[in-house]
Amino acid sequence: MADAPGAATFQTPAGAYDRHIGRYGRELGRALIAVAGVKPGQRALDVGCGPGALTAELVAAAGADNVAAVDPSAPFVDACRERQPGVRIELARAEALPFEDGSFDHALAQLVVNFMSDPPAGVREMARVTHSGGTVTAAVWDYAGEMTLLRRFWDAAVALDPLAADLDEGRSMPFCARGELEELWSAAGLSAVRGSEAIVSASYDGFEDLWEPLERGVAPSGAYAVSLAPERRAALKEELRTRLAVGDEPFDLTARAWVVTGRVP
Ligand SMILES: C[S@@+](CC[C@H](N)C(=O)[O-])C[C@H]1O[C@@H](n2cnc3c(N)ncnc32)[C@H](O)[C@@H]1O
Repeated sequence: MADAPGAATFQTPAGAYDRHIGRYGRELGRALIAVAGVKPGQRALDVGCGPGALTAELVAAAGADNVAAVDPSAPFVDACRERQPGVRIELARAEALPFEDGSFDHALAQLVVNFMSDPPAGVREMARVTHSGGTVTAAVWDYAGEMTLLRRFWDAAVALDPLAADLDEGRSMPFCARGELEELWSAAGLSAVRGSEAIVSASYDGFEDLWEPLERGVAPSGAYAVSLAPERRAALKEELRTRLAVGDEPFDLTARAWVVTGRVP
């Protein structure tokens, strides 16, 4: 099956991801862990771990011996292995998890379901490797609304080029509207499905600190930025700065994610 839109844009250095979407990851990870109810000593799987923001929080909550993680991006798996010694980390996709049935108390996927090539299969796999009574939990950005960084980015891009509307993640991403994740979870056979939201924030030294990782081509937003010729890229940079109404001083941005959890029957 072909990659979902944007999935290939994570074959990039981990440092660029850290400075772009990764800034929000630790706080969002703590929110997911609270929703899932991960307790010390329980076994947890991080699906689509990236460089390991949620993995690090799972290690803090449950202990490295109890945590495993997978991601299809080799640079991200390498970075996660380096950062989280003692955690079993595999190069793998959600749709084919390399674990026995019922291996975990909790399976979590942070900002990943919308990038899966076959989300129903990915969620079914997360449920398969979780034992009966365990939880399957995920989060996806509110791309169309209150993920401020990406919403302003795509608004700026579409203002300068209406054709960018097709790439706008608020339109192109599945499962980014309220209630959609719950439907996916119920269709996968999970019980006690519950939706909620998490609002997290990230700090920036100034606008250049926000813009620089976009120049590294990471995530669909960065891939779009580097696809532009220099003058158009410079125009996008200025349009984004104007829409964010920030300058060279430090600032914070907030981001909302839709969260879902359910139990394996
Ligand atoms: C936005 S990043 C999230 C990374 C990390 N979970 C975090 O919160 O920082 C999306 C991640 O999903 C991974 N990914 C893409 N397709 C996937 C699939 N089919 N199964 C598992 N992970 C996938 C990408 O390689 C990337 O690391």
